[in-house]
Amino acid sequence: MAKRALVTGGNRGLGLEVCRQLGHRGYEIVLTSRAPTDVALALRAEGITIEHHSLDVADPRSAAKLAADLKAPIDTLVNNSGISMDGFDANVAEKTLATNFFGALHVTEALLPHVRDGGNIVMVSSGLGSISILAPHLRAELLAPDLTREALARRMQDFIDDVKAGRHAQNGWPSSAYGVSKVGINALARVYARELAPRRIRVNAVCPGWVRTAMGGRGAERDVREGAASIVWAAVLEDHTTGGFFRDGRAVPW
Ligand SMILES: NC(=O)c1ccc[n+]([C@@H]2O[C@H](COP(=O)([O-])OP(=O)(O)OC[C@H]3O[C@@H](n4cnc5c(N)ncnc54)[C@H](OP(=O)(O)O)[C@@H]3O)[C@@H](O)[C@H]2O)c1
Repeated sequence: MAKRALVTGGNRGLGLEVCRQLGHRGYEIVLTSRAPTDVALALRAEGITIEHHSLDVADPRSAAKLAADLKAPIDTLVNNSGISMDGFDANVAEKTLATNFFGALHVTEALLPHVRDGGNIVMVSSGLGSISILAPHLRAELLAPDLTREALARRMQDFIDDVKAGRHAQNGWPSSAYGVSKVGINALARVYARELAPRRIRVNAVCPGWVRTAMGGRGAERDVREGAASIVWAAVLEDHTTGGFFRDGRAVPW
């Protein structure tokens, strides 16, 4: 039986290329995107079995609807959707976290019952999400072995509230919503890895490198194939690797 992989933000950039590479490895692809897209047609023409669903990761109702509509279990979930906004203020903090952190959290929560035991969950992160960007007390809290999803979500909400109140720097946060959102999903990968160990579901965070997409820009170092391969490595794992942060299949310091 073919394995099935669901990818968020599969309509362009790294997400689309992850769908293509997994499809060519024989996976059935559940491609999700927030707006209608015809990329599924092109992938089908390459011989890939594909189904499309709408999913706006920033809207928890959208994730719940997707969960209700899914007809078969999935072996892999790739939380790829992400935004990187210009500037830094409360609006940027709120929107960035809503997509990059809370989006991955809500989608994973909604889809967990559909992920087969022994499957893979990938959080597409970034080298910019290094824990070193946080003050020591926040670092210690996020690295605690008993960190819970609820405590992590509260901390991420604190960042938004602190930016709104003009006290984020004094409370130990950097002026980078994107960086904080990716620190958050790296921590989330560790929490889920621990929680889902009894189901043998691996959860890893991956950095694709600096990639030539709409987000990465034309001057980026890598083409989309190379960046996507870094993600696909974690999407198809069959060993005991879980709770780590990787680039190109190698552990990188978080
Ligand atoms: N490119 C890089 O250098 C780089 C480096 C490190 C990490 N990353 C990460 O890699 C991932 C993919 O980035 P990319 O470079 O492929 O960027 P991209 O070309 O800008 O694509 C971003 C994808 O995310 C989707 N998305 C954004 N908001 C969404 C929402 N609310 N609901 C559903 N989908 C949403 C976009 O959909 P729409 O078409 O609807 O906007 C698009 O499919 C991101 O998580 C990013 O942070 C990229």
